[in-house]
Amino acid sequence: MVLSRMNPFTPEKTRLVLVLVGLPARGKTYIGRKMARYLNWLGFAARVFNIGDYRRTRLGHHHRHDFFNPNNEEGNRLRNELATLALEDMLNWMKLGGQIGIYDATNTTILRRRQVHDRCLQHGLDVVFVESVCEDPSIIEANIRETKLTSPDYEGVEPDEAARDFRARIDHYTRAYEPIQEENYSYIKLIDVGRVMVMHQIQGYVPGKLVNFLMNMHLVRRPIWLTRHGESEFNLQGRIGGDSSLTDDGRHYARALASFVREHAIRPPIVWTSTLSRTVETARELHLPYLQWRALDEIDGGVCDSMTYEEIAERMPDEFAARQADKLNYRYPRGESYVDVTQRLEPVIQELEREREPVLVVGHQAVLRVLYAYFTDRRPEQVLHLDIPIHTVIELTPGPYAFVERRFALTLQGGPAPGTGDAMRD
Ligand code: F6P
Repeated sequence: MVLSRMNPFTPEKTRLVLVLVGLPARGKTYIGRKMARYLNWLGFAARVFNIGDYRRTRLGHHHRHDFFNPNNEEGNRLRNELATLALEDMLNWMKLGGQIGIYDATNTTILRRRQVHDRCLQHGLDVVFVESVCEDPSIIEANIRETKLTSPDYEGVEPDEAARDFRARIDHYTRAYEPIQEENYSYIKLIDVGRVMVMHQIQGYVPGKLVNFLMNMHLVRRPIWLTRHGESEFNLQGRIGGDSSLTDDGRHYARALASFVREHAIRPPIVWTSTLSRTVETARELHLPYLQWRALDEIDGGVCDSMTYEEIAERMPDEFAARQADKLNYRYPRGESYVDVTQRLEPVIQELEREREPVLVVGHQAVLRVLYAYFTDRRPEQVLHLDIPIHTVIELTPGPYAFVERRFALTLQGGPAPGTGDAMRD
């Protein structure tokens, strides 16, 4: 029997809790959501349980700093109740099949961490603590201004007043803060977003992947542009795969793309292509250095390469039907599935995360669907029909928690596309 699964490392066995640790405004929620996005994209069932959301849903917003004062008994009681509620919800979700729970709370005392750790252990779950420490005041201030002042907690509150209140909230936690150093726990400690990283008792497939992922994390806001190559001869004929050249329209697109980059780039982007002619021919018009990635090659159609969908349906009806039935796991004979493509694109995602310069990826439909899915927080089964049209640039820029998307359908210069005189339609 051939096992069909998302990942060769049997993720179905994975049951892990990631417990965030850190003072307020240290980017815990940012890190938690980022890890969830990455793990879900890889095919794990991962979910964040954010205690701030529990507080707002159950007790409403508008809690001022006194609520978080350790001397406020009523505040302590309510906060403990919420912490327990979120933890128990997470454990129940894991009982129902959840694989990686991300517990997003401050967890700043040894006592609290022990309680969380022991409760997870009772459920037979592995625990890894992920602590974010910030010693750089500018990062904390930027975080307060960007994420906290716009939070529902401070709706209608004047920004300076809200910032003052939030700093007072931080002070309450600071007095009781015990940075993680428990000898018997697994933990990853991040200091100033990757300036220093400490790993303690880290082992296993997922924690290992996360170490790499977190190491590449930074806060530089630069665009990532995704585009398919210009129209190819095979696109025109409706044939999949192959290594055909661009059509006249495809060449017009290559020039339109070069103008787009000249107009939009604050500085020249790093350009990545696949090893196939159609992406290279598209990128050449940019007159910028480009890097060819084998990992960016289009999904391998195996024995169906260079055929039209109609030819596949006619000559190999079983194969055609099998792909229709399970496009995610279906592997073309001697070719690839979307699962295979996701696995080979994982290092590309790591590199895109690590890179601090703008990047332009000139790729292919299936490959870009998978990359795009990562940035827009889609699970593998949502990847398969994502709309990645030709002659369009998709711009993704990191926002406070999610990537912000803009699409530019470029008008072909010298080509037959409807001419408004504009170089692009947003
Ligand atoms: O048709 C263009 C193309 O890039 C093919 O080379 C590739 O096989 C196909 O798109 C992938 O799309 P789908 O997975 O929907 O068949």
